[in-house]
Amino acid sequence: MTMGDARIRVLVVDDDLAVRQALSRTLEKIGYDVVVAEDGQEGLDRLRQGGIHIVLADLKMPKLSGNELLKAAKAIAPDVEVIVITGHGTVEDAVEAMKEGAYDFITKPFKRVQLEKTIRKAAEKQALVLENRVLQARVDELQGAGQIIGTSPAILRTLELVNQVAPSTATVLIQGESGTGKELIANAVHHGSPRRARPFIKVNCAALPETLLESELFGYERGAFTGAVARREGRFELADGGTLFMDEIGDLSLATQAKLLRVLQEGEFERLGGTRTLKVDVRLVAATHADLATLVREKGFREDLFYRLNVITIQIPPLRERREDIPLLAQHFLGRYAVKNAKTITGFTDEALDLLQSYAWPGNVRELENVIERAVVLTRGSMISPADLPETLAGADQAARHLVISVGTPLEEVEDRLIEETLRYARGDKTLAAKLLGIATRTIYRRMKGEPQPPGAG
Ligand SMILES: Nc1ncnc2c1ncn2[C@@H]1O[C@H](COP(=O)(O)OP(=O)(O)OP(=O)(O)O)[C@@H](O)[C@H]1O
Ligand SMILES: [Mg+2]
Repeated sequence: MTMGDARIRVLVVDDDLAVRQALSRTLEKIGYDVVVAEDGQEGLDRLRQGGIHIVLADLKMPKLSGNELLKAAKAIAPDVEVIVITGHGTVEDAVEAMKEGAYDFITKPFKRVQLEKTIRKAAEKQALVLENRVLQARVDELQGAGQIIGTSPAILRTLELVNQVAPSTATVLIQGESGTGKELIANAVHHGSPRRARPFIKVNCAALPETLLESELFGYERGAFTGAVARREGRFELADGGTLFMDEIGDLSLATQAKLLRVLQEGEFERLGGTRTLKVDVRLVAATHADLATLVREKGFREDLFYRLNVITIQIPPLRERREDIPLLAQHFLGRYAVKNAKTITGFTDEALDLLQSYAWPGNVRELENVIERAVVLTRGSMISPADLPETLAGADQAARHLVISVGTPLEEVEDRLIEETLRYARGDKTLAAKLLGIATRTIYRRMKGEPQPPGAG
């Protein structure tokens, strides 16, 4: 059976040699590629290498049961269809497996027609899933999703660093304000590495309380705590061979920091409630909006862990420090959301672009993206105009044109603030600011250096 160019590859996992052989022969005769594994663990290892479309797994196996394999498969390769094989009269197990996301089940001893029919249906579904993937990839390409937009020196330097460090296994720490693109960069690091075909697993350290986070990271054994009814793999295990992205790492408790340090140092850990030491090969990429160095000084973050993480730091500058990227990003998001909303919008009026470029963007690129999406939805014209933008943007511009000064403010301070605000209004253009203020440009340079001025100078 083929799917476009690729043949459907079935992974048969059964501890019984006779069953494996019988299944392989039947499936090969129908025209599938067949790979076999003797137990769940081996099956999982094979699955991690990729290229499997359908898993046919016995439910009762040593080491890792079919059900555990099913769960792990859904986490590592969610698109793979799993069909479970059950013994005669064990319907409950089959139902359980279906609940966990199995595609179907077949009962032993199976009839060839039954097997053929079930696998064919799963293969057809796989073909659709893969077709969708290809289409989605094409849409992404057209819309530039995952693409890092920007031509400012600051962003180009960032990208250069990404290209340089991605192929290594070095731990990367990404720092930047919220919405600056930390996750996008983390993705780029993974996709630029030889691990790109292996899992990219994310965990947000700020989203979970300490104990839950530890069980997410390291997994747990059955009975490790109330509610741990079955063993579960942690994110470190799932990321084996790939990259683990730990977001908001500044929020880790000191206790979890200690455990993480051990994994980084020795590459090993135990599941919660477990005694077996597990070894993994994981590349860590961490991100935080907090300043970790300051946290270290304030004793909220372990210094040794900081140095482990900080092998390479990628600092993403806030959007207001790379305003030249704003028009590009705005146009990029405009294109994406116009397509999504089936609207024909060609661009921005000059006034709208001015507003976008002079706003401070405390929420950075994410905020810009939201503003553009909203504008695309709201606008009735073919150009985005100031009326389509939130009032905060115009308000910011208004505020930039007015100063509120209390009676009795020292004249020198008034002058300083006036120069400062005029400069900001002129977007740093000193000649323009000087012209607006009716003073010489060199006076602005002098004042910026903080030299004391004789009264009335300039
Ligand atoms: N340079 C860029 N080019 C294109 N899109 C970008 C760029 N930077 C950020 N984005 C987009 O902005 C949004 C926010 O980016 P991302 O989630 O990576 O930021 P973050 O720093 O992780 O934010 P937070 O701190 O809020 O989690 C995403 O939709 C991302 O695709
Ligand atoms: Mg993020």
